[in-house]
Amino acid sequence: MAAELGHLARGAVAAILCLLLLVFQVTPSAGASISGGNNGTTCISTERDALLSLKADLLDPAGRLSSWHGQDCCRWKGVGCSKRTGHVVKLDLRTAGEDYKNYNILMLSRDEMGSSLAGLQQLRYLDLSLNDFNGTNIPVSVGSLENLRYLNLSSSSFSGRIPSQLGNLSNLEYLDASGGEDLHVIDLAWLSRLSLLGYLDLRGVDLSALRDYWVHMVNMLVSLRVLRLGGCGLITSTMSTTRKSNLTHLQVLDLSSNSFNTSLDEHYWFWDLTSLKELYLSYCDWHGSIPQELGNMTSLQVIDFSYNDLVGLIPSNLENLCNLEVLRLEENNINARMEEFMDRLPRCSWSTIQMLSVRYSNMTGELPIWIGNMTSLE
Ligand SMILES: *[C@@H]1O[C@H](CO)[C@@H](O)[C@H](O)[C@H]1NC(C)=O
Ligand SMILES: *[C@@H]1O[C@H](CO)[C@@H](O)[C@H](O)[C@H]1NC(C)=O
Ligand SMILES: *[C@@H]1O[C@H](CO)[C@@H](O)[C@H](O)[C@H]1NC(C)=O
Ligand SMILES: *[C@@H]1O[C@H](CO)[C@@H](O)[C@H](O)[C@H]1NC(C)=O
Ligand SMILES: *[C@@H]1O[C@H](CO)[C@@H](O)[C@H](O)[C@H]1NC(C)=O
Ligand SMILES: *[C@@H]1O[C@H](CO)[C@@H](O)[C@H](O)[C@H]1NC(C)=O
Ligand SMILES: *[C@@H]1O[C@H](CO)[C@@H](O)[C@H](O)[C@H]1NC(C)=O
Ligand SMILES: *[C@@H]1O[C@H](CO)[C@@H](O)[C@H](O)[C@H]1NC(C)=O
Ligand SMILES: *[C@@H]1O[C@H](CO)[C@@H](O)[C@H](O)[C@H]1NC(C)=O
Repeated sequence: MAAELGHLARGAVAAILCLLLLVFQVTPSAGASISGGNNGTTCISTERDALLSLKADLLDPAGRLSSWHGQDCCRWKGVGCSKRTGHVVKLDLRTAGEDYKNYNILMLSRDEMGSSLAGLQQLRYLDLSLNDFNGTNIPVSVGSLENLRYLNLSSSSFSGRIPSQLGNLSNLEYLDASGGEDLHVIDLAWLSRLSLLGYLDLRGVDLSALRDYWVHMVNMLVSLRVLRLGGCGLITSTMSTTRKSNLTHLQVLDLSSNSFNTSLDEHYWFWDLTSLKELYLSYCDWHGSIPQELGNMTSLQVIDFSYNDLVGLIPSNLENLCNLEVLRLEENNINARMEEFMDRLPRCSWSTIQMLSVRYSNMTGELPIWIGNMTSLE
């Protein structure tokens, strides 16, 4: 009996550990023990001053920062301190939930953001997303926060050149500067110094000045799992000459909305990434046919080649793509019979496919009756 109970308890502990692991994997965390509203530690006064000076830089019509007063800044909304050291390690000013629905954003109260952030040297997590920094530059002082693991500047109306000082953030694991207002990069050499970077989202940032050099810079980031470079003004010309890709851990690649204007059926570096789960290549002006290499990318769950000038059927060797959930080929020139197309879909993915889009792709014929066997199709 006792042994059985012990067994059960161990089971429960294991289950809880699994849950915790899940939570920590899904949510990029700023560190093991952070407190918001803790009791013991009162905040470090220089850091409180830095936060107050940051608050003074911001317009906050909805009073989101109304808790930012009094001695213990560790209790202020959006602020997290280390339980061990008492330092401010987390600052989350994302406009989310109800605030987002009601457009309760933070805005800049003056013509630029001061260097107040530099007073928070122990920060590991900084999220300024979905606010309005009025088209000002990303503050260079962010580059001095060498403990940062997570930096989110997404959709916060920053503009201008992304400061190369971000290359000093050698601990950075997440960088999201997507959806800015006219952000651009002239030289990406700083990026290669971020060797721990696992997640890079620069969607909408103008990288056209780099010509095709971006491939080489990105290829240094050996830890990357997610790479989103949609709408960056990328071109390809030597993409095919990069012989070996370092990005062996990459799971998500988004290159959509770049004007590649060349044949997809070349030996591009990404065709070697057999661990890839999601591949977004829509709106890229790809020509030619869909290459055989796709048949080796057996981890793929999402394939989006829509809105290109691709011609012809999917290859006939896709039988091992057993994890497929989304296949989007609309607005291409497949120019075949529906029955033939459907026959080339991997049978082992009949139970996983959720979305199949081939509208406006120049196909004739009928859907086969067995489409009813695609049990997850939505
Ligand atoms: C502060 O937290 C500790 C545990 O972390 C607890 O033992 C103590 O009672 C708390 N004190 C107050 C005043 O809440
Ligand atoms: C925001 O930017 C505009 C145009 O650049 C400027 O006229 C305005 O004063 C700025 N607002 C603030 C609060 O600085
Ligand atoms: C950054 O913030 C945006 C908007 O709040 C969010 O959608 C995105 O997932 C965040 N990026 C990361 C890497 O967490
Ligand atoms: C970044 O590091 C360089 C040296 O690698 C240093 O000269 C520079 O001041 C640093 N910039 C910031 C913003 O800390
Ligand atoms: C792969 O990454 C290493 C280390 O970052 C770098 O030295 C090397 O040049 C990269 N290889 C290629 C082909 O880019
Ligand atoms: C695409 O490339 C062809 C030649 O390869 C060129 O004639 C055409 O203008 C290009 N289209 C765009 C939109 O760049
Ligand atoms: C698929 O992978 C196998 C084994 O790695 C390789 O021999 C073959 O050439 C690849 N096929 C394509 C079309 O890349
Ligand atoms: C559809 O395919 C036919 C060839 O069978 C071709 O003549 C026609 O231009 C294609 N239509 C479109 C919209 O691509
Ligand atoms: C579709 O499913 C039905 C019922 O499960 C089965 O009898 C039939 O053979 C399946 N069709 C194909 C083409 O596998």
